[in-house]
Amino acid sequence: MRILNVVGARPNFMKMAPLVHALNARGIPQLLLHTGQHYDDNMSKVFFEDLRMPKPDIYMGVGSGSHAEQTAKVMVGFEQVCLKEKPDLVVVVGDVNSTLACSIVASKLWIPVAHVEAGLRSFDWKMPEEINRLVTDRLSEILLTPSPDADENLRKEGTPEDRIHRVGNIMIDSLVASLERAKGSSVLDRFGLAPKGFGVLTLHRPSNVDDEKTLLGIMDVIHEISEQLPIVFSCHPRTAQRLKAIPAYERLAKKGDVRVLEPLGYLDFLRLYSQSRIALTDSGGLQEETTFLQIPCVTIRENTERPVTLTEGSNVLAGCDPARIRKAARAALDGPPPGAKRVPDLWDGHTAPRIVDVFETWWRKRSS
Ligand code: UD1
Ligand code: UDP
Repeated sequence: MRILNVVGARPNFMKMAPLVHALNARGIPQLLLHTGQHYDDNMSKVFFEDLRMPKPDIYMGVGSGSHAEQTAKVMVGFEQVCLKEKPDLVVVVGDVNSTLACSIVASKLWIPVAHVEAGLRSFDWKMPEEINRLVTDRLSEILLTPSPDADENLRKEGTPEDRIHRVGNIMIDSLVASLERAKGSSVLDRFGLAPKGFGVLTLHRPSNVDDEKTLLGIMDVIHEISEQLPIVFSCHPRTAQRLKAIPAYERLAKKGDVRVLEPLGYLDFLRLYSQSRIALTDSGGLQEETTFLQIPCVTIRENTERPVTLTEGSNVLAGCDPARIRKAARAALDGPPPGAKRVPDLWDGHTAPRIVDVFETWWRKRSS
């Protein structure tokens, strides 16, 4: 069995690294391909170092573009790679454009696709990731899910039962493997932060940051919250560009204590949010990571494809309206800590070896 693993954007790296390590441990031949959807050192290279992942065997360098441009560029390049390498299985993770593009290409070449983090649904078709998830899951032969809601979504869509494998949450493998090492990060000292004396903010969803009025409304309430608790803002390049283009933000930025930082590496960021009092975010991954560490999380979105973080974890859905964000943040800061809620089943740091078990069983059946 020869496997071709695909990564492209920041949230892919922490989902792929544990699998690369687990495949290596079993001696299964693999290639790692990076599409180059994210390319800045602090959105890409640093994660290979922090997660101790080998350099990609193939780097496509597609870069940024519209959805059609980016998806098409990945497809054209990936087709050539598949024809040359002839893998037995293509593995994609998450829900970014690279995930979608590579699953379409592999399927049309009759190369089976395995999707890690299958079955998540926000039911919001205006979200580009929802289209990516739906198409990738429909095309994948092996669907590796993190939670029972994901299994149920796939069943309702008519997915054959033998394709669905609940293996748990692979991001948590990276978190568990890195927590000790992250203690060596100097991030708190570098920014003069005391444990539990600050909140963390990330924002990058187009629905929150691409419209000036929406972004200003969110930032206004964030600055207000920062009068009570300093907020450290890991600012995604998409958001940095938008904020720079809004003259009114300069005045707003003087209110409270919001520290705007460049994106951080995996270990620095893990150290940062693990020591924070609250996370305010529209990130998919951070909702899960804060649930695992039982850190209060206020999600600045109208929906989530990760409902277990609400029912079992420390996450609350605030929406994008400033008044609701203010209320949710106040409740999280003034109320009791999220406390006794539990970590979802199989979010235990051992998802990657379970995925390799599934691959080995699938391969035995296929070659018998
Ligand atoms: C992408 C994913 C999103 C994921 C997010 C994680 C899609 C459709 N979107 O969104 O699901 O949650 O990554 O971070 O796949 N840019 C840089 N440097 C980089 C990368 C991007 O400056 O290394 C800038 C470019 O101006 C680019 C913009 O950020 O146009 C957006 O990048 P893009 O990959 O298109 O989408 P993201 O918003 O990053
Ligand atoms: N992350 C990071 N540095 C940062 C911001 C986020 O390492 O400055 C990590 C975060 O801990 C999580 C992943 O990036 O593991 C989430 O990626 P992102 O929010 O970009 O995408 P999403 O999860 O929304 O698809």
